[in-house]
Amino acid sequence: MKINRPIIALDFPDREHAVRFLDRFPQDEHLFVKIGMEMYYGEGQDFVREVIARGHDVFLDLKLHDIPHTVHAAARVLGKLGVQLTTVHAAGGQEMMAAAKEGLLDGAAGQRIPQVLAITQLTSTSEEQMHREQLIQASLQESVLNYARVAQQAGMDGVVCSAHEAAAIAAATAPDFMRVTPGIRLAGGAVGDQKRVMTPDQAAANQSSAIVVGRAITQADDPVAAYRLVKKLWEE
Ligand code: C5P
Repeated sequence: MKINRPIIALDFPDREHAVRFLDRFPQDEHLFVKIGMEMYYGEGQDFVREVIARGHDVFLDLKLHDIPHTVHAAARVLGKLGVQLTTVHAAGGQEMMAAAKEGLLDGAAGQRIPQVLAITQLTSTSEEQMHREQLIQASLQESVLNYARVAQQAGMDGVVCSAHEAAAIAAATAPDFMRVTPGIRLAGGAVGDQKRVMTPDQAAANQSSAIVVGRAITQADDPVAAYRLVKKLWEE
């Protein structure tokens, strides 16, 4: 399953900046935006509801990781919001991931049930660090693939991963298991703190199911034009 619209990472310091960004788009443009910890902790559920009320789809990226009972309770709260996508850490285990799914289902109470993506190894984790701190002796790629399989068995809808890993994950999991990939840049754009980047068309060729694009759109001189360009490259 491919999500046709690029998902815009709404990484802003506060509601005012985020709304100013959204206001640049035509009112009837249905965007898919990612709300992360910074905006959620700062502006809370009211902001999520406001974005949905504006007609946008929301990927609420809070990366839950706790004991299954606590994650179930937290996911039940999030299930009521009407978001499309959420995230949990695969490192929390299959029981925890399944509890998240159940909690979302309970919370949604017949409304739209959010899909859940698993975080495998954070892209900020190096192989050396994984060996040293997690005592995982496999390669980073093997660990990512293992977590993807474990997440699929737990009933997750996909993983967040680097576009560089998408094809390998596609080969190791079912066709409808999603590969949602950040770290996207336009050719010639600033790389910033991302270490391994791909353009939207390269990500599509490498079997990403959806792309998450932040600064290449939000920090562009003309964000709407940048969005249209990313969308065109991704769709083609
Ligand atoms: O600005 P940029 O396009 O790099 O933003 C990417 C977004 O995706 C940010 O919200 C970042 O936190 C998120 N992300 C990431 N790498 C991951 C997981 C999430 O860049 N592995």
